[in-house]
Amino acid sequence: MRLSDCHNFSDFRRMAQRRLPGPIFNYIDGAADDEVTYRRNTESFETCDLVPNVLRGVSEIDMSVTVMGQKLAMPVYCSPTALQRLFHHQGERAVAKAAAKYGTMFGVSSLGTVSLEEARRISSGPQVYQFYFHRDRGLNRAMMQRAKEVGVEVMMLTVDSITGGNRERDKRTGFAIPFKLNLAGMLQFALKPAWAINYFTHEGFKLPQLDEHVDMGGGTMSISRYFTEMLDPSMTWDDVAEMVRLWSGPFCLKGIMSVEDAKRAVEIGCSGIVLSNHGGRQLDGSRAAFDQLAEIVDAVGDRIDVIMDGGVQRGTHVLKALSLGAKAVGVGRYYLFPLAAAGQPGVERALEQMRVEIERGMKLMGCSSIEQLSRKNLRFR
Ligand SMILES: Cc1cc2nc3c(=O)[nH]c(=O)nc-3n(C[C@H](O)[C@H](O)[C@H](O)COP(=O)(O)O)c2cc1C
Repeated sequence: MRLSDCHNFSDFRRMAQRRLPGPIFNYIDGAADDEVTYRRNTESFETCDLVPNVLRGVSEIDMSVTVMGQKLAMPVYCSPTALQRLFHHQGERAVAKAAAKYGTMFGVSSLGTVSLEEARRISSGPQVYQFYFHRDRGLNRAMMQRAKEVGVEVMMLTVDSITGGNRERDKRTGFAIPFKLNLAGMLQFALKPAWAINYFTHEGFKLPQLDEHVDMGGGTMSISRYFTEMLDPSMTWDDVAEMVRLWSGPFCLKGIMSVEDAKRAVEIGCSGIVLSNHGGRQLDGSRAAFDQLAEIVDAVGDRIDVIMDGGVQRGTHVLKALSLGAKAVGVGRYYLFPLAAAGQPGVERALEQMRVEIERGMKLMGCSSIEQLSRKNLRFR
C-alpha cells in the first residue's frame, strides 16, 4: 500500500496498521473499557444532516478562523498527542512542519518526544503546550515558565486525565513505556522489521518535557506510574485559577464536558475550552463532544471560545461542528495514522485532504466564509 492509495481516514488507518507493530497500532487505535465512547464520537456526526443553500456566489472560499486570539488558515488543528516518535521517527517534527505549511496550530504534549524549544524552531505557527497538573506545584510553575520563554502561544491544561483510562488493548499486548511486552507482543514487533529498523536507527526515545523532572527514559518511572504518582488528583478550580493568572495569556482547559464546568472556566478567566473525551481513551460511556456541543455553546459561547475534538474524520464533520457554534475542531488519530503510515508527507496529505473537503463542503453548502455557517444549515433526525 502506498501513500497515493490513501484517500481518507480508513485508508490511512489501514496503511498505519500494516506498518506498525500491533502493540503500537493498538495504542493509537484503542480506547477505554468497551470503547463505546470512541465509537460514538464518530457516529454522533451522523445524527444530523447538512441543509445546503445554493446560488450564493461561492467562487472565493475563506475558511480561516480566529480562536483564542490565534488566526488559523483552516478551522482544524492537530491536537496534542503523546509519544509521536514511537509511531514514526519524525514524530512531532513532521506534525509541526505540516501544521505550519497549512497555517494551523499544533499541540506539543507533556509526553511529547520532541522538545518545546525544537518544535518552536520548526514552526512559526501558533503553538499549544498541553500539560498536566502535577503534585509538585514548583514543577507546574517551572513548566509554565519554560513555555513562556519558548514563546508558546496557548497553554492547554488537560483536565480529563486525573487518572489513566482502562486501555484493555494495551493490557493484552503489554504496551507500556518503558516496553514491557509479553511474548505475543514481542512477536508482533518481530513481524514488522521495517518499523524496528526505522526506530532503532534514529536517536533514542526521550520525553524532553519531563526528562529534567522524571527519569522515564531510564526506565525507573513508567507512564502509568507518572499518571498515578506525579499527577495531582486533588487539583481544584482554585489551583487552576492561579495558573491562569500566572500565565496571563491564552489559557484553555481540555476535557470540559458539563455546562457547570464551562461556566467555571469562564469565571476563572480561561480563553477557551475544548469539549473532549480524550478520543474515548479515558471515561468510557461519557458523552461525545459533538452531542454536547450545542448545550455548551448556548451557555457560554458568547464569553469563551468553544472548541471540540473526538471522532473527526471528514470535512463535513468539521462543518457540522462549526455550524453548531464551535470555533475550531481538533483532530488526533486523523493525523496520527498518516504520521505512522508515511511521516511528514502523510500528515501533509491528510491535512490537504481535510482542507479540500472543507472547501468543497463550504461551496456545496453555499458558504464562502465560516461565519455563514449556522444552525439553520443543520437538521437533527
Ligand atoms: C495516541 C494518542 C495519544 C494522546 N495523547 C494525548 C496527550 O498526551 N495529551 C492530551 O491531552 N491528549 C492526548 N490524546 C487525545 C487527543 O489530544 C485528542 O483529544 C483525541 O485524540 C481526539 O480524538 P480523535 O483521535 O478521535 O480525533 C491522545 C490521543 C491519542 C489517540
